[in-house]
Amino acid sequence: MIGKLNHVAIAVPSLEEGVKTYSSVLGAQISAVQELPEHGVRLVFIELPNTKIELLEALNEDSPIAAFLERNPAGGIHHICYEVEDIIAARDKLTATGARVLGAKDGSVAQPKIGAHGNPVLFLHPKDFQGTLIELEEVKVSS
Ligand code: CO
Repeated sequence: MIGKLNHVAIAVPSLEEGVKTYSSVLGAQISAVQELPEHGVRLVFIELPNTKIELLEALNEDSPIAAFLERNPAGGIHHICYEVEDIIAARDKLTATGARVLGAKDGSVAQPKIGAHGNPVLFLHPKDFQGTLIELEEVKVSS
């Protein structure tokens, strides 16, 4: 079901410091800063030849990144993102196996949100996936 690794996301206490490290120290190409209020984050993408790294900063105190940084003050790997061709089919298949998709309320199924690349995304509960928060992103395979 899952395809390519789309990105690895790292939570950072300071986006500015993270950008400095990846540009000046590691010599990577960095995107412009994006704000995603619906996800509570500010972020940049670092383009690598085979994948991307996402640096995430909390947009406000309610951000999931703020909670993560309380437990990991220096920052750390927050999630990994795998590509799927059909996010609704993937969600339904995972739900049928008993895996928890985040954002489901009162027994209803979780609905995808639009992620940083303009594609639908969903997050899977870390307790069902070896302690790792997993993002699924629908990426249409161009023919
Ligand atoms: Co992500």
